[in-house]
Amino acid sequence: MKFNVTYSEADRPNGNQIESLSQKAVQALQLLKTKRGKGNDFLGWVDLPAEISQSDLEEINSCAEEIRNKSDIFVVAGIGGSYLGARAVIESLKHNFDYLLDNGKSPIIIYAGNTLSEDYAADLMDILDKKDYSLCVISKSGTTTETAVTFRILRNHLEKKYGHEQAVSRIIAVTDKEKGVLKAIADKEGYKTFVIPDNVGGRFSVLTPVGLLPIAVAGFDIKALVDGAANIRNALLNTENTKENIAVKYAVTRNYLYNIGKEIELLVNYQPDLIYFSEWFKQLYGESEGKENKGLFPASVSNTTDLHSMGQYIQQGKRLMFETILHVENANHCIQIPYQEDDDDKLNYLSGFSMMQINHKAEEGTSMAHADGGVTQLQLSIDRINEENIGKLIYFFELACGISGYMLDVNPFDQPGVEFYKKNMFALLGKK
Ligand code: PA5
Repeated sequence: MKFNVTYSEADRPNGNQIESLSQKAVQALQLLKTKRGKGNDFLGWVDLPAEISQSDLEEINSCAEEIRNKSDIFVVAGIGGSYLGARAVIESLKHNFDYLLDNGKSPIIIYAGNTLSEDYAADLMDILDKKDYSLCVISKSGTTTETAVTFRILRNHLEKKYGHEQAVSRIIAVTDKEKGVLKAIADKEGYKTFVIPDNVGGRFSVLTPVGLLPIAVAGFDIKALVDGAANIRNALLNTENTKENIAVKYAVTRNYLYNIGKEIELLVNYQPDLIYFSEWFKQLYGESEGKENKGLFPASVSNTTDLHSMGQYIQQGKRLMFETILHVENANHCIQIPYQEDDDDKLNYLSGFSMMQINHKAEEGTSMAHADGGVTQLQLSIDRINEENIGKLIYFFELACGISGYMLDVNPFDQPGVEFYKKNMFALLGKK
């Protein structure tokens, strides 16, 4: 994985701005390693990739296999950190039209419990009436309304469809090891359960069963994912020259840009498979840094699609943002533009090019245009989208988020602001 920065003329650092921020970032990294910083009871994710054992992975894989054998659909019910990590990985890796493949290999993953839309629930049950399915309910607290309401509805549906005994065998609960309503229900009913460790917060939990179980059910190699994270963890925690550490460099650059007045970080991809990776990133950074009236607003675009919508603003609108580009070097397939005898569409100048080559030229051209438009660009490169590289990206962004949050002097591991809407909603609904 590589990281580099191209500053616009106006944003270029001078003097020792970067040097002093680098010192701060190295201290922040040290706080994460020694677990002495704010929110240090939620730092389980730092060592997680190295601590996941072969037998943990086997238990997840064997449960996944059982589900795969009896389900056309696997419903993953969770919200925020209890859902976005799994979705980010699965959407990155899956066939774009898996729901039309009908090759009987992997169940289709459907997400629920992340909305209160009645029409969404009705449409879902319409499908679940006709298909065999299993359900994974994921909630650390066990009380999150969106997930809990959906679970009640689907539990009921499963009981009616399969009867009690079979319904029980089709439900898996991923929750706290002892606390919460969901844990109590799971114990009472005898559901298979997986534990979300106490010291891992939702948005840092993708490498626990929260993410790994759905990812395994979707048919992906969770060992390669965890290995990717473990490899980059080793590199990032043990780099001797800490200032050359790419997580430090990224955190320093984005904090520098924040300090000179940038308000928005746009995560940019050129692969629609990465759209949910951006959603995961937005939650990770938004919930970790957006507090005490501070923090960059994390946003995202998916190009070249969004060059035909947000592209205009990025090129010429208010200079609020910088871009962090996820560059993918190789596609996993090759499609070349065919030669056409009469060239009626005037595209023969592209014949022989692969689509990825054209996509890369679009990316390069956009970077040049945005540089002219005064947009500073950070670039993270991976050689291709696969389990190992997604694992690396996950750990990279998590570590950089911890460093960045400490540099901002906030607790990156709490989310007190999320409670405000809940309080009002509960009062409006008459919850005692
Ligand atoms: O990152 C977080 O902690 C949150 O996004 C939670 O994951 C989210 O609110 C869901 O919480 P729970 O797992 O308790 O249902």
